[in-house]
Amino acid sequence: MKPVRIGLIGLGAVGSQVARILTEEAESLQARAGIPLRLVKVAVRDTGKKRGFTPDSGLLTTEPFDVVNSPEVDIVVELIGGEDPAFDLAMAAARKRKGFVTANKLLLALRGAEVFSAFEKSGARLGFEAAVAGAIPIIRSIRESFSGDQVELIQGIVNGTGNYILSRMTDEGSRFEDVLKDAQALGYAEADPTLDVEGIDSAHKVAILAALAFETMVDFSDVYTEGITNITPEDIISARELGYRIKLLGVARRVDDTISLRVHPTMLPQKDLMANVDGPFNAIHILSSQAGASTLVGRGAGGGPTATAVLSDIVSMARDIASGAGARMAPLGAPVGGMDKLPVIPIDELESEYYLRFTVPDRPNVLAQIAGALGDNGISIASMIQRERKENQPVSVVLMTHNAVEADMKKSLAHIESSGICLAPTMIIRIAENGRD
Ligand code: NAP
Ligand code: HSE
Repeated sequence: MKPVRIGLIGLGAVGSQVARILTEEAESLQARAGIPLRLVKVAVRDTGKKRGFTPDSGLLTTEPFDVVNSPEVDIVVELIGGEDPAFDLAMAAARKRKGFVTANKLLLALRGAEVFSAFEKSGARLGFEAAVAGAIPIIRSIRESFSGDQVELIQGIVNGTGNYILSRMTDEGSRFEDVLKDAQALGYAEADPTLDVEGIDSAHKVAILAALAFETMVDFSDVYTEGITNITPEDIISARELGYRIKLLGVARRVDDTISLRVHPTMLPQKDLMANVDGPFNAIHILSSQAGASTLVGRGAGGGPTATAVLSDIVSMARDIASGAGARMAPLGAPVGGMDKLPVIPIDELESEYYLRFTVPDRPNVLAQIAGALGDNGISIASMIQRERKENQPVSVVLMTHNAVEADMKKSLAHIESSGICLAPTMIIRIAENGRD
């Protein structure tokens, strides 16, 4: 039987594992796909680099467009990341009507409208299961398994690096910088790890999931984004004392004909399932109108787990080729041409309980000024901790509030900051009660 020929672009943390599985598991993949899969070309930047798995050197090239343009390649697998040249590679594959598999969430979040529509028009297949939450089959789940239901909320830990860092800071008291280095060594982090720790990678995934679940075009700039770089060991300890764990959550919620899109550190009650998803694991909670609550948990980062999601797209395309299936599903399920752009609710309208940590001098009237500014904007304090007394020295005052509107919180904090009592920036973390915000 004529094999399906695969061209791979990128042989890093994920690409090297895809190449290894294609080579070492060829027999079982053939049994599952119903047709042999053969790796025929591989593009890298440096052909001499030592790697976890290196395919036959005769397959290597340093020109990624050679892979797309080669008449020998049926399916192009893009695992280089970034916008350029990944966008041009995707568009070239669509024009040539080749299957294109990618794990590149940045590309799909920033240029998804053009990429999805190019594949719809050409009728070529586009697979991006690996772009969100690593090994968790979230793209197929939303596009296919939930297609008979209306998704109302997607809330999840969708960045393995951020979760690995927060988990080790929480459980071992490790330092942020040390744990980030470990996450890079383990192949969890992006080539530019600021994407992980500043919440941008999670925001890319929120944009993709919202487009898929709510059948809407999403402007990436509409995703409110905060990362974990300002979280201190003190916040982690205070959260524990108050009965919470801090997680970086991505949220996409539909409210009638509007949507809310955001990524920020969130305090989850310790008993919540998601509060106990640790290390490089991701968890995605889906609330849909008929099925109710469903949660998927699995490894969200790392070469091997992510490679399985890439392979799932390759096998799915190979099965279509083997069976001669003609009709292709639009990459997002619904065609992008027919999609509206649902208005996005500004973060200022969010209602939440808040954790606030002020760094202030330990002297009379300071607490009254803070409480006054919050009270003037209708914000009620639920509890307060001041751990130590250090006269004439900065102390941390931690407050938990009742439900408040974000705009009122911003007004209060601006007033408190302008009064000159804060000796360092105030830490603000939103709280998700019962695990669901
Ligand atoms: P990586 O380890 O940095 O590997 C990138 C690979 O791409 C390297 O082999 C590099 O070649 C090659 N490359 C870069 N630019 C190239 C160019 N212009 N031409 C040819 N080759 C080029 O990245 P990764 O972690 O495997 O991630 C790959 C993609 O998967 C990214 O989109 C990432 O966001 C996504 N992803 C990663 C994970 C994960 O856990 N790592 C999980 C889900 C999704 P050299 O080796 O020669 O430098
Ligand atoms: N850097 C990403 C993460 C890879 O840590 O989640 C998986 O998308």
